[in-house]
Formats: sequence, C-alpha cells, structure tokens
Amino acid sequence: MSVHHSEIKRVTTHVLQEMKLRKEKISMLTSYDYSMAKIIDSAGIDVILVGDSASNVMAGHETTLPITLDQMIYHASSVIRAIERALVVVDLPFGSYQGNSKEALSSAIKIMKESGAHAVKLEGGKEIIESVQRILSAGIPVMGHLGLTPQSIYKFGTYIVRAQEEEEAETLIADAKLLEQAGCFALVLEKIPADLAKKVAEEITIPVIGIGAGNGVDGQVLVMHDMLGITHEFSPRFLRRYHNLYEEIKGAVEAYVNDVKSLDFPNEKEQY
Ligand code: KIV
Repeated sequence: MSVHHSEIKRVTTHVLQEMKLRKEKISMLTSYDYSMAKIIDSAGIDVILVGDSASNVMAGHETTLPITLDQMIYHASSVIRAIERALVVVDLPFGSYQGNSKEALSSAIKIMKESGAHAVKLEGGKEIIESVQRILSAGIPVMGHLGLTPQSIYKFGTYIVRAQEEEEAETLIADAKLLEQAGCFALVLEKIPADLAKKVAEEITIPVIGIGAGNGVDGQVLVMHDMLGITHEFSPRFLRRYHNLYEEIKGAVEAYVNDVKSLDFPNEKEQY
C-alpha cells in the first residue's frame, strides 16, 4: 500500500496542483491494459499515462508513430475499466492533432467519449498551441510534453538529451510558459538537463513531471515495461529497474514447458 496520501480517494488535476503546492512528489507510470492498470492503481500510483509508447512496448514498432487513435482508445478504455484512484491521461497519437486544431479537438473528444479517460497529452510547444487552446476550450484537461518528443524523432534524428544548447533551452522555457498560460494542468519534460528542468519547475506554477529530467521537478514518470524489466534491451541512464521480469517470466515459462513435457503437470491434485 502507498505510504503517501492514501486518503486521496480520486486523483484529479486539482489534487496534482495541490501536491505541487505542498511539495509532495507526483508518481506517474504508463499502462496500456486492464490487469496491469489494476495492479498499479492499487499500489497508489497518482497518474496513469496511456502513452503512445504502447506502439513500442505493446505492438513492437520501432517508433511511436504508427499507433492509431482507435488503438489508443482501445488501450485507454481497458485501463479506465481497472482504475479506482489514479488520474488517467491519454496520448493523442501522431497525426491526430498536428497542424489542424479542429482535427485535434475532434481527436480529443473521441478519446474522452469512447475511452472515459480524464485528460489528454500532446507533444510540442508553440507549433501546437492552437490545438491545445481549442481542446482546452472544450473543457478537456491537457498535459503538455516538451524536450525529447518521440513523435518528432525523424526531425531530431536521435534520442540524445535535448536542450543542451542555450537557444534550445530558451525555446523550451518559452514553450513551457506558453503551455501554462494556455491552461495546461501539467507538463512532462523528457530527457533534458536536470538544471533546466528544475528551472522550468520553479518558473511555472503547474506540476512538471520528468523522465530523464532529474530530481528538481514535481514528479516522475517511467514506462512501466522499462521499470519492471519486461523490456531488457533499453537501458538509458535515467532508468531505474525495480525488477527483472523478462528473466523471471522467461524462467517461469521454461519451468512450465519442462513440467508439461516431463508429465509433471498436471499432477493428481490439479485435475478433476
Ligand atoms: O508515451 C509515453 O510513454 C510517454 C512517456 C515517455 C512520458 O510519453
């Protein structure tokens, strides 16, 4: 059971704002299916992100670009059926909001209506601000995402740390302020220098949640499959693995295969 504020019955965007004010760190993990969402919700996670990283860890694509709006809705509605406490945020997938704010709004409305999610997340700053504003004007809470934005991987060309140069750092700070002014309830900062992330968290009033952005922010997010060690080929410096489920699951399956082949399973007590 969580040791922090287990008395919170339901995490809302307002609860996150209060957590920032009282300096309680926000915990966030990705999840894409009913069974895992049920476990992490009961463990006391504050926010569940139905990330478009589902494209990588669930579907095996190299990037987040191929996942569709309907696939995100499928994952999000599975998660929503499981949760009792966490705030559920869903990524708007690549191609569902860039360049056309009306399409952005209809994508966000479709996600909210068909999945029952509580908020959406969009990647980008100034270039998507019209979409952010239009979605917010419909009463849909929006989480921003700056720094390494995986939907733009073909523009960046690499997954290295972003905003190390002054010019890019200044643009990031300006974008963070723009998203705050537009009315976003929180902001994810991915893979940027810790000092810069801390500065952003100090300069804006909305919660800043980091991944590879150091400890000076208001909360942390990891991809669940990475922190549980289900994925094992991906080892960035920022990732702390809490388990090695790849090896544990593999070992369990090997034992099952052996038991079946050696006629050990099922035994007399395991049959009718
Ligand atoms: O899709 C995702 O998992 C994300 C996190 C890495 C923040 O956007």
